[in-house]
Amino acid sequence: MQISSNYSKFARFLNLGMKLIFDKKELQSCLSSHEDEAKMLGLVPTMGALHEGHLSLVRQALSENSRVVVSIFVNPTQFNNPEDLKKYPKTLETDMALLESVSDEIIVFAPTVSELYTQNISSKNYSFNGLDKVMEGAFREGHFNGVATIVEILLDLVRPNKAYFGEKDFQQLQIVRKLSHELPFKVKIVGCPIVREPHGLAMSSRNQLLSKRMRQRAGIIFKTLQTAHSMFGTKNATVIVAYVNSVFAKEADLELEYFQIADVETLTPMQRKQDNIKYRGFIAVYAEGVRLIDNIAMN
Ligand code: PAJ
Repeated sequence: MQISSNYSKFARFLNLGMKLIFDKKELQSCLSSHEDEAKMLGLVPTMGALHEGHLSLVRQALSENSRVVVSIFVNPTQFNNPEDLKKYPKTLETDMALLESVSDEIIVFAPTVSELYTQNISSKNYSFNGLDKVMEGAFREGHFNGVATIVEILLDLVRPNKAYFGEKDFQQLQIVRKLSHELPFKVKIVGCPIVREPHGLAMSSRNQLLSKRMRQRAGIIFKTLQTAHSMFGTKNATVIVAYVNSVFAKEADLELEYFQIADVETLTPMQRKQDNIKYRGFIAVYAEGVRLIDNIAMN
């Protein structure tokens, strides 16, 4: 009943050749029916409320695969804050229109919670060699267990050749890479560059929860990261961290949760700079109760 009324709402997209699938069995039969012609299958996992950042992943996936599945699923187990989950934007119709503007051959998979969590709505416990203990992992308890649980479920279900993740969530990308090496099947994890709004704010579904004024104002996050980057050649981490702290101490309505320069492989904070190591600056800021994260390559 619910499924059919859902379908009727999306009929115009389906007439265009797009597929909207709510059911995992149907997804699997759709994928297996095209097994011969589909040499390469790409998966782009999302939580919907799509924007140009997501679409850049979809475009890259389309350019490298003959079929692309975009999953839209607001995963409850990765939200440590129930309020955050409650107010997370859900915009399936707009998402379908945006995807259709990119290609009408995308397979959209938008399951319900019970479709993916058949037993309990809970996470598995993973060990990621400490990658999950710092930064986002330290401030959002259980977050990465939730992310890894759903990513494993989706990868197992779709069995793509490649899966696409944004550098916007760089720690997530590294954790998913680690997860992928431990899976009993092969999948290549592709990292895609951060897409930004014109004034520099990294695009995020959460940006639409900000007032227009704050959306502009939050451009200071990227500006500060750029300055931190320009200091990196001559200043040590303590000085750069102090600089970033001083910027946000002056901003009454932007609250810095952390800024850290870390090794991109281990995600441990930089102590003494080493030439053979790549570093990134990672930041989390609260604006109007919305948590915004960003990062930048330092070298
Ligand atoms: P979501 O926040 O919807 O993001 C889906 C994918 O889009 C992630 O890989 C994310 O890094 C990427 N992305 C988001 N904003 C971006 C931007 N401005 N530029 C480039 N890429 C961007 O991340 C999640 O969902 C979830 O944790 C998920 C992996 C789907 C698991 O539930």
